[in-house]
Amino acid sequence: MDIASYLSKKRSSFDEKSGNIKDFVVFDYNYIPEKPVTREEAKQIVNSMLQFEMSGIPTHMAIIGSRGSGKTMILKYLKELFQNETGLDVLYVNCRHYNTSFKIFAYLLDNENSAGASLVDLYQRFMQQYKNKTVVILDEVNLMSSKDKNREILYFLSRSEQPYMVIILSNTPHVLKQLDPATRSSLQPLPLHFKNYNAEQIYEILQDRAQKGLHNWDDGHLSQIAALTTQKTNSDARVAIKTLYYKMMNPSDDTEKCFEDARRDIVIDVVNDLADANLMILWAAATNKSDLVKDIYKRYCRFSQDHQIKPFSYMYFYTNLGYLQSVGLLALVATKIDRIYTNRVVLTFDKTVAEQICKLRFE
Ligand SMILES: Nc1ncnc2c1ncn2[C@@H]1O[C@H](COP(=O)(O)OP(=O)(O)OP(=O)(O)O)[C@@H](O)[C@H]1O
Ligand SMILES: [Mg+2]
Repeated sequence: MDIASYLSKKRSSFDEKSGNIKDFVVFDYNYIPEKPVTREEAKQIVNSMLQFEMSGIPTHMAIIGSRGSGKTMILKYLKELFQNETGLDVLYVNCRHYNTSFKIFAYLLDNENSAGASLVDLYQRFMQQYKNKTVVILDEVNLMSSKDKNREILYFLSRSEQPYMVIILSNTPHVLKQLDPATRSSLQPLPLHFKNYNAEQIYEILQDRAQKGLHNWDDGHLSQIAALTTQKTNSDARVAIKTLYYKMMNPSDDTEKCFEDARRDIVIDVVNDLADANLMILWAAATNKSDLVKDIYKRYCRFSQDHQIKPFSYMYFYTNLGYLQSVGLLALVATKIDRIYTNRVVLTFDKTVAEQICKLRFE
């Protein structure tokens, strides 16, 4: 078949499959619903922000919740709401894209002439530009570069004589332990934990998407997807939304198959998002004969040296295993060997995925 006929055939089959979809936007992870499914914890953020608006005294916050628990969506929603309804300025930065204090300030200053400036220069300019009461949301703060270990921006903003309130978001609590003592004591963030959604909440999220984005659907499928998502993931709403998408595009497929496909795709995203050092740890775990932590550490050190990267200390390596556990890629299982307790590493997904991504990144 020539390529033009192939295109036209493929296109009509795609049209046929997507006939039931009214609006694709509901399957976009960046889509912000008009009325998000309520999360009790959101009220606490609203209260703190309102208090800040009235008093100018900030309550800095650290919002911790597992992947797909709605952190980004809710804070982006609140940003719009507060900007329209109150006198606060609200800034949002994703630290995945701007991963040092310098880059974050430069971004918030519209990247004007940051070349040659020092961090203090940028902070001074920031104070010039933002004189109003300002909330700074730093999303995925755990992904800041190890070059900026102390996350200096947190120190500047929390020590400022101008009214700034900082909200950091992270899917791992480690980030709070990593703050240096000076920053911790001036920031003193109020920790707020986003609980994992229950099946009913996931169901509501799916139903809201269905109402906006689909012509027809079966509520039974939505319940089934919600149940699978809460039982087999940390209630990652992204997996639920993607499963619904696959089910709509391939109605004859079993819902469980759609769920497994969605879960696999999302694992690939998570592994791809890892920083080099964490990916290398995962690589060592995926390819080592022994699954004992100390043996994996040896292999990890060798891999790092082969790639001219300085390996982490054993302690820091352990902290990073904890991180990989918190994003759902592995489980640390306590085990007793020769009367001594140690941990085994059990990967929770197909090892070949890790191997393929590592090859692409490092070879
Ligand atoms: N309460 C909710 N109402 C409607 N949609 C939701 C809700 N919570 C999450 N979602 C949807 O689920 C998806 C994942 O949410 P979000 O991106 O906010 O997760 P996150 O907690 O930021 O995850 P990560 O830690 O991976 O960044 C998004 O598409 C979001 O719109
Ligand atoms: Mg997020």
